[in-house]
Amino acid sequence: MNIAMLGSGFIGRFYAESIQGYRNKDKIVSIYSRKEESATKFATDYNVGFATDNLEAAIDRTDVDVVCIALPNNMHEEAVLLCCKHKKAVVTTKPLARNAEEAKRMLLAVEKAGIFNGYLEDLVYTPKFLKAHESVKNGALGRILWAKSRETHPGPHSDWFWDIEQAGGGCILDLGCHCVEITRSYIGKDILPVEVMCWADTQVKPIDAEDHSIALIKYENGAISQFEVSWTFRGGLDLRDEVMGTEGTIWINSFLRTGFEMFTTGKSGDYLAEKAESNSGWLFPVGDEVNELGYNHMFMDMFASLEKGIQPKETFYDGYVVNAVLDACYKSAKTKLWEPVKLDIWRGRTGVSKDSHLQEYDAEHYLVKEEMTHYGAKKIILKNKTTGKLSQITQ
Ligand SMILES: NC(=O)c1ccc[n+]([C@@H]2O[C@H](COP(=O)([O-])OP(=O)(O)OC[C@H]3O[C@@H](n4cnc5c(N)ncnc54)[C@H](O)[C@@H]3O)[C@@H](O)[C@H]2O)c1
Repeated sequence: MNIAMLGSGFIGRFYAESIQGYRNKDKIVSIYSRKEESATKFATDYNVGFATDNLEAAIDRTDVDVVCIALPNNMHEEAVLLCCKHKKAVVTTKPLARNAEEAKRMLLAVEKAGIFNGYLEDLVYTPKFLKAHESVKNGALGRILWAKSRETHPGPHSDWFWDIEQAGGGCILDLGCHCVEITRSYIGKDILPVEVMCWADTQVKPIDAEDHSIALIKYENGAISQFEVSWTFRGGLDLRDEVMGTEGTIWINSFLRTGFEMFTTGKSGDYLAEKAESNSGWLFPVGDEVNELGYNHMFMDMFASLEKGIQPKETFYDGYVVNAVLDACYKSAKTKLWEPVKLDIWRGRTGVSKDSHLQEYDAEHYLVKEEMTHYGAKKIILKNKTTGKLSQITQ
């Protein structure tokens, strides 16, 4: 693929490392940045033929197959509309938009223009997520009851994130978007998110947006998801997920405890891993960060799908659903009530009821629990189907 990269900052460079850092055939051929010197610097670093500070000029080129949007949140819509105008395939970083209204306009625009659209939610492409999700799909955890995701760090790296107008929100939008898509994927993307309860506060930073939040999201099949997000967490980037089902559990730690621990007095360079707060003492490096964060598998899916003429795993529609869930979170944080998720466009299943929690033991009883005790007795706890009486058999 020949790619136009819009944005030469933090994520634009991570994407460039993923697209060109290995022996790939994909190539960035055009780079836009707000400042000409930043575009030129990026072009030199990644051997890009065309550098500009004109957004449309970066997109409207015959050699560009796909446009990759790596711009501040308030510029996503403008860039997407230019891709529609020039009929260019487009992939956009997270969050898709600042709110569901904006996301819906973008979704309808790409669908009307008939262009390929991909949502760059890297954290559902990490090697650990892909394996865990495969196990969940194959039934290793049974029925999924609860999926929890946490992303906390000491705060973002550019001024615009801290401005509620440009960013659209605080850590709920910036980090909650990852958590919602991760947990939604485990529960089932065809299951309707129904309502949310959210707490949010500005505990530390001198900003208008929230810097810390916790939320619960109820799904139509009775499953619950939970996110914990913060821009005030000290100690690096904490990325952890938990999934609980009737037959099993998964715990994933993607960043701080990956099995790689190192002590140093601090004699090497400054950079260790994203948002690491220290370069001395006991440290937790991440290995191949670009791969561990899912960027490689994400672009593989995006570009392979584009070549085959099929939809990628993550599309603008997913980004829109995520924005709708987060809008409900913002509302709930204000009203302190469970708030419905408003989805004008829903393409999943409807009318899904909660699965029965009753497990048959024999004609008269339901099984409550079986346990082998430390003294060698096996206990079977039962509930009578008609009287409701609880009893136990000891074997
Ligand atoms: N894991 C992820 O997927 C991930 C991680 C970080 C950021 N992001 C997303 O990527 C997008 C860009 O974030 P970033 O961290 O690369 O930001 P950044 O500040 O590092 O870079 C933004 C780039 O956008 C361009 N730009 C154009 N107009 C601008 C303006 N008015 N103000 C600032 N920059 C302007 C510049 O080239 C700048 O380098 C955001 O939507 C953010 O949420 C995603």
